[in-house]
Amino acid sequence: MSGPPPPRGRHHVKVNVDTTVCSGHARCNAVAPEVYDLDDLGYCRIPSPEVAPEHEKAARDGAAACPERAITIEA
Ligand code: F3S
Repeated sequence: MSGPPPPRGRHHVKVNVDTTVCSGHARCNAVAPEVYDLDDLGYCRIPSPEVAPEHEKAARDGAAACPERAITIEA
């Protein structure tokens, strides 16, 4: 047994960008600027890998928008 599951919708998710895969399409930032930032060269930068529950959908939408599949989300 591993204890009760976390309460639904209250846990933070973790966002990770594989910088070796990101090619600067900037779609993540266009879809979810509250989660994904861009550096000076236009590559994805994540100010905080811990995403608040209210931004989880935006984080997932941004990840789905990346044509390189550079973004992974850990629940
Ligand atoms: Fe990079 Fe994909 Fe965003 S290539 S800039 S993580 S849309």
